[in-house]
Amino acid sequence: MQDLLLKITDQSAKIGIIGQGYVGLPLAMAFTKKFAVFGYDVCLNIVEGLRAGNSHIQDVTNDQLSKSLGYTYFPTSNPEDLRQCDFIIICVPTPLTEDKIPDLSYIKNACMTIKTVLHPGQFVILESTTYPGTTDEVVIPMLEDTGLKAGIDFGVAYSPERVDPGNKNFPIEKVPTVVGGINAECTDVAAALYRSVVEKIVSVRDARTAEAVKMVENIFRNVNIALVNEMALIFERMGINTWEVIDAAATKPYGFMPFYPGPGVGGHCIPLDPYYMSYKAKKYGLIPRFIETSGEINEFMKMHVVNLIEKGIRQVGKSLYGAKIAVMGLAYKKNINDPRESPAIKVIEELVNLGTEVRVYDPFVPSIQTKSGVFCSTWSIEEALAGADCAVFLVDHDMFRDISPQWMKGLMTSPVIVDGKNLFGEEEGIVYLGIGKGRV
Ligand SMILES: NC(=O)c1ccc[n+]([C@@H]2O[C@H](COP(=O)([O-])OP(=O)(O)OC[C@H]3O[C@@H](n4cnc5c(N)ncnc54)[C@H](O)[C@@H]3O)[C@@H](O)[C@H]2O)c1
Repeated sequence: MQDLLLKITDQSAKIGIIGQGYVGLPLAMAFTKKFAVFGYDVCLNIVEGLRAGNSHIQDVTNDQLSKSLGYTYFPTSNPEDLRQCDFIIICVPTPLTEDKIPDLSYIKNACMTIKTVLHPGQFVILESTTYPGTTDEVVIPMLEDTGLKAGIDFGVAYSPERVDPGNKNFPIEKVPTVVGGINAECTDVAAALYRSVVEKIVSVRDARTAEAVKMVENIFRNVNIALVNEMALIFERMGINTWEVIDAAATKPYGFMPFYPGPGVGGHCIPLDPYYMSYKAKKYGLIPRFIETSGEINEFMKMHVVNLIEKGIRQVGKSLYGAKIAVMGLAYKKNINDPRESPAIKVIEELVNLGTEVRVYDPFVPSIQTKSGVFCSTWSIEEALAGADCAVFLVDHDMFRDISPQWMKGLMTSPVIVDGKNLFGEEEGIVYLGIGKGRV
């Protein structure tokens, strides 16, 4: 592995990244500043788009892509291109099955691909989020099927991805990267690779520890969001404004970290990762009650939104059946175009099941797939609100903050606003129901 260290130092190392999505493409861009990068993806549309200079990821501009395309960045759908790579980094999805069991099929498929090109001297790094033990128990046995020995013939490490899509303050280079190799030498080599493009590296004792770091980070968020969601449900009944409470509590200079309530959590990480940990905990004979309860509370918030809509619609003397509902915000968080696991999906499905007429709007997400069909965003806010009985806001996109409730009232048939993200407040002549903001 001394060879690899030399190749890192003289920048001759070639890097293959399997999966060119939200994680893989920004990572590829970071590495192209020093190394030749082969961005491998099984999706031909993505590869062709990238080759044509079109980025499908909001955080990577076409400008940024074009600077390295053909020079140090080579999008490919040919696994043979990975053979020449010194490092192969896996950035494929880790979803759940229908019954909420970890679905490692993407990681296994990536390993199948690596097996076809693996040779002595290469180094494999897993970045996909997964339960502790995946690198040792799933990745290594598959790669050792080749007859090569991990840690001797080829290196292996785990490094959790921490990218926060849409957050311009923290590009990959600025976020400390955690690495854990399967032995001390592997940790050092992986750390050296990332250190060449990332400002701070945190080495941990092994791959399992690095995998556990990611679990803790995301479960910490899930549990804290669940806690404020539960407080919001209580305060709503007590007529206390949860947002005001949290902002005031956050002035304590130590021992408190603000989390805010909302209509549930989305994205490819926070809602899924607790189930990865929970699955593994059960294998060790433990039922993780805290982790599972947080998932249930956050899941319930979607139903709470529907309950608030029904309450508002009743207050204007109408029934939910046949009501026209404008669902505002399809992304799972503000100012991004990713609708994966978005609370909007469940809210739309429930509203359709209850017989409402749903139209949707999101400035970033053109359409959303639900069990009730595909919903396409209207072209404008006006179009979504025209004749609506209720507008429900699920995401705090910056542009939503500029909307005036009185202006909305002028477009709607009945002025019911359900606010999941503290965008508005009480106003004359408007039925306003906000998560965590009940009246006495
Ligand atoms: N999106 C995030 O904000 C984020 C943050 C931190 C960690 N993660 C984790 O990173 C991993 C990747 O997430 P993502 O958001 O980038 O997913 P993504 O769906 O955006 O991208 C994954 C890409 O992998 C490709 N792919 C799937 N199987 C493949 C295979 N066998 N060979 C080659 N390409 C393949 C897909 O076509 C897709 O383009 C997940 O484990 C996720 O939990 C995601």
